[in-house]
Order: sequence, then C-alpha cells, then structure tokens
Amino acid sequence: MEQLRLGINIDHIATLRQARRASQPDPVAAAAIATLAGADGITIHLRGDRRHIQPRDAELLRRTVDTHLNIEVAVSGPALAAVRRLKPDAACLVPERPGEVSTEGGLDLAGVRAEAGRAIRLLRAAGIATTCFIEPEERQIRLAAALGADNVELNTKAYAESRGRRRAAQAARVAAAARLARQLGLGVHAGHGLDYHNVGPIAAIGEVSELNIGHAIVARAALVGLDRAVRDMRSLLRR
Ligand code: PXP
Repeated sequence: MEQLRLGINIDHIATLRQARRASQPDPVAAAAIATLAGADGITIHLRGDRRHIQPRDAELLRRTVDTHLNIEVAVSGPALAAVRRLKPDAACLVPERPGEVSTEGGLDLAGVRAEAGRAIRLLRAAGIATTCFIEPEERQIRLAAALGADNVELNTKAYAESRGRRRAAQAARVAAAARLARQLGLGVHAGHGLDYHNVGPIAAIGEVSELNIGHAIVARAALVGLDRAVRDMRSLLRR
C-alpha cells in the first residue's frame, strides 16, 4: 500500500485576496501554515486568466515551499512556459476553459494528444514530474501512460457529487482506474470535490499515493482556522 500524501490546494486563499485586489490573505503565508499543520505538499493552479494565483505567488512559493510544490497548468499557453521556468516538483496538466467556476472535468487526452505529449516532453526536459488530470477511465489512463506521464490524477468530482449506491459505484470506478494505472507504472493521485465526509473511501484505495484538496479545507479554514482545517483532514487520512 502506498503512503498517502496530502496536497493542499491554496488557490482559494488567493481568490479571497483577489476579491478586493488586496495584499491579504497571502497564499505564501497560507502555505507555511498548511505545511506546519502537516500538509505534505502545496498545490496551486496558475490559470491563464489569473483569477486567483498570480505570478508573484508562484515565484515566492517556489522559493519557500520546501516540501512539494505542484502547479496545475493548461497543456498549452504562456503559463506552461512560466511553469517550466519555475521548476516546481510536479506539474499537473489540466483542462482550462474561460468562464468555468473550477476545473470542470478531466483532460480528454485523445482530443489534446499532441499538445499534452509536447507539454509532457518539455516539462520532463526541465526535470519536472508530470501528472495528467483525467477521468477515471481506461482509455484516458492508457493514453497518459503512452504519452509518458509520470502520474495521473483521477478526477473524483463524479464520486463526490453522487450519493448512496451510486457513490459506492463511483468509488469502485476510481479504485479500478487506480489499479490499472499502477499496473501501467503510473503514480496515482486523486482529487476534486473531496471533503471531510467523503474522503474516506478514496483515501482507502491502496494505489492512491496523493490527494489534492482545496475548497473543503479553505472553507473550513474560514471558520476554524487553516491550522485546524489541515489537521482535521490529516487525521482522516490514517490508513
Ligand atoms: N485537483 C485538480 C486537478 C483541481 O483542478 C482541483 C481544483 O482546483 C483540485 C484537485 C481540488 O479540488 P477541490 O477544490 O474541489 O478540493
């Protein structure tokens, strides 16, 4: 069974700051608090529309996060060049659509095969581990392996949004995808929509080595503080 790392997505700390075009709250301070509270890594999405994380944040986080910095980025566009320069520990390729509230689904690797393959090659040449954020589907997993990705991040949105028996079926779907990805030599991450109530069955999938969680933790942090919000999540991840 893989060890399970918790990556905290701090985009929404920057969302709050950008709501007033102010200097606070600072995601750099949030990253430090999350790390002290037990986060294994920090995740940010450097979006083309700059709605939350700014280039200044990415640069400072690169210099101050000494655990594991993961940057989500679109397969093409100027942010990819910025990520290559920044050299985070890992980059996660995600679809990006103008106007979306959050990342809406996994990358369709068949549709962006050439761009994703190019991005993976460029990132790898810069010494950056690459992850493809995809739906938990056999076709996508096989494509990620064929394109030379190091990891896949399985989208848990459908799992998180389903209830009862449907949720159990979605958890089984993620587990089957995780098994296949490991068999193909890929590292397996999961994320999107995970919260304090639904994280258990995904954390229990032995092949999953990393969870990336943002909204639920920042939402709880607004009420009880970031330190406690991270510790509360950490305590649910003991295998
Ligand atoms: N993983 C990826 C690839 C994402 O795009 C996001 C959302 O930014 C997350 C994980 C975290 O999702 P949530 O904020 O719902 O926890």
